[in-house]
Amino acid sequence: MLKKQYKVFEVETLTPSEKAQIVKIESEEFEYSYKNIEKVSELISSENHKFILRKFDDEIVFYCIYVLLVDEIEIYKIWVNPNERRSGLAHETLALTLFKKNVKQIVAEVQEENNIARKFYKKIGFEEIRIRNNYYYDGSNCVTLIKKII
Ligand SMILES: CC(C)(COP(=O)(O)OP(=O)(O)OC[C@H]1O[C@@H](n2cnc3c(N)ncnc32)[C@H](O)[C@@H]1OP(=O)(O)O)[C@@H](O)C(=O)NCCC(=O)NCCS
Repeated sequence: MLKKQYKVFEVETLTPSEKAQIVKIESEEFEYSYKNIEKVSELISSENHKFILRKFDDEIVFYCIYVLLVDEIEIYKIWVNPNERRSGLAHETLALTLFKKNVKQIVAEVQEENNIARKFYKKIGFEEIRIRNNYYYDGSNCVTLIKKII
């Protein structure tokens, strides 16, 4: 059960406050993905990235960063505030948004050691299709998962 009702926002650009929050979270939680933190800022400012946010006042409690490529969505990052994890927030949000898009499939990539994310994606209908060795900047491997939509 979610502790609070969080509004869903689907946006193509972030406010300065949203950007600052995401850069901070990315640098703290996903440091394996980047050679340096300037890269995060650059990536989330690039035009093709889209965002799904859930917020309490101005505080982001969920975000998903993704790219839409014709008939496919690639999830680049998904994050839930640690206090709200395992309450169904990520699953509910994807069910309300990405799973309703008119695309053939959704692709996600996670670090091989990230067993929680792998369990999460598998629980919500994704299938693991391949492992890429030495994919991230820290040398860790990447698991690709796919969910068919239409
Ligand atoms: C992965 C993550 C987004 C899941 O968000 P969440 O809101 O906690 O997930 P949900 O509550 O919607 O979980 C849905 C299902 O996923 C699985 N799951 C989620 N967290 C799990 C955990 N800690 N252990 C085992 N299974 C888990 C469960 O099957 C769960 O269903 P259930 O609770 O009915 O058993 C969240 O743990 C997170 O932000 N992790 C850190 C960031 C990250 O690693 N992101 C992924 C790589 S980009």
